Amino acid sequence: MTDHLSAVLDRIDADLDRSLERLFEFIRIPSISTDPAYKDECRRAAEWLATELRELGFDASARLTGGHPMVVGHHGQGAEGPHALFYGHYDVQPVDPIELWNTPPFEPTLVAAPNGDTWIVARGASDDKGALMTFIEACRAWKAVSGDLPIRVSILLEGEEESGSPSLQPFLEANQKELSADVALVCDTDMWDNDTPAVTTMLRGLVGEEIEITCADRDLHSGMFGSAARNPIHLLTDILASLRDADGRITLPGFYDGVQELPAEVKDQWNRLPFDEAGFLGGVGLRIPAGEKGRSVLEQVWARPTCEVNGIVGGYTGEGFKTVIPSKASAKVSFRLVSGQDPMKVREAFRAHVKARIPADCTVTFKEHGGSPALSLPLDGPWLKPTLQALTDEWGREAALAGTGGSIPIVGDFKRLLNMDALMVGFARFDNRVHSPNEKYDLSSFHHGIRSWARILAAFAR
Ligand code: BES
Ligand code: MN
Ligand code: MN
Repeated sequence: MTDHLSAVLDRIDADLDRSLERLFEFIRIPSISTDPAYKDECRRAAEWLATELRELGFDASARLTGGHPMVVGHHGQGAEGPHALFYGHYDVQPVDPIELWNTPPFEPTLVAAPNGDTWIVARGASDDKGALMTFIEACRAWKAVSGDLPIRVSILLEGEEESGSPSLQPFLEANQKELSADVALVCDTDMWDNDTPAVTTMLRGLVGEEIEITCADRDLHSGMFGSAARNPIHLLTDILASLRDADGRITLPGFYDGVQELPAEVKDQWNRLPFDEAGFLGGVGLRIPAGEKGRSVLEQVWARPTCEVNGIVGGYTGEGFKTVIPSKASAKVSFRLVSGQDPMKVREAFRAHVKARIPADCTVTFKEHGGSPALSLPLDGPWLKPTLQALTDEWGREAALAGTGGSIPIVGDFKRLLNMDALMVGFARFDNRVHSPNEKYDLSSFHHGIRSWARILAAFAR
């Protein structure tokens, strides 16, 4: 089987244009999971994937859940040898602010990049449609060349990752046996830098909370009622501001319980990494680090917990001006967690902190948006070494072990519910503008990503 590898890699090169056409077709389906208006599109994306997988010889279907469907496929069931479960998500983030896109978000466009690469620009090009298609296209090439896959493969593609995965846990529980494999493969992370591939072994956890504060029972004239009637925007912003102190530390009682300082050798190693702090902020038009005092940027985004306000709404936000004291104000707040922190405790501490600051004649409601602990994956086991080797062979640079500031809650669920470790391999570049206007995926990420998976599958078969 492994003798086929060079023919498979050639096939990938020869078929790249077709691979790209298939990716474009997939991207054109606007599968925004968080917005109910796109429910049918999410279903269409799931059906599209199930059809693709069936064409590749997978026993695959889109399965209904309480939310968006799960796509599940199996190939080589009953065969001997290793069995991998590949996970990706077909849902994407909303596109707003739409006016900042240079091209329509769901019309994938090829753009010449300054470094000579080509960018695929579209919502989902990187997160996670382009990425998950690297694995599917690698399977396609294996099938075309050898008529089979090197190992047993199952695939799970979710449609609610960007909105907290409400259906995931029940689905994993109900299909525990069917979805268990020797290892999970996740393609939803970054490379180390533009030229260096990476396996991500540390993920931060996440607690999402939405709060709505109500003061008066109607909007008021701010001249008639101003200062006498409580303004919910003032209340909300005071509360939000009170979450961090002047040194960037989070003030919630118990927030840092269980958080360990980085071991000195890790800190040293990170300080020696060729990480360009000025370029990191410079790349997004900033200069002055805003985070916790006395900690490097890498430490801040990989190893420290944070609190960020992600959205805030209240009062008159339309054109022009309106002198109003609104009845309500609301905000979406997220906490990134590191090892040792308990998502439930953080949520409770946050709610207690807010409630303690709401006057007796006002009210607050909370809505939960997901909660998952941070995770460190083991560095031993049979899968990591062949993966690093396969990546090193493909990219001609030694593959790195990396952390990431983002969260992929399912990785913890795989361990907890299916007792399965995950291997996170991704080809996204740091400047991909994921969740942002003009999201892009480099053509080289796509192309070498497909080739990387083809090699990893072969390496697992050995
Ligand atoms: N692919 C990202 C996670 C990610 C981002 C990994 C950057 C590595 C680098 C994933 O789709 C994502 O956006 N996750 C959300 C969590 C979710 C519960 C909304 C996140 O991290 O905000
Ligand atoms: Mn993603
Ligand atoms: Mn995402």
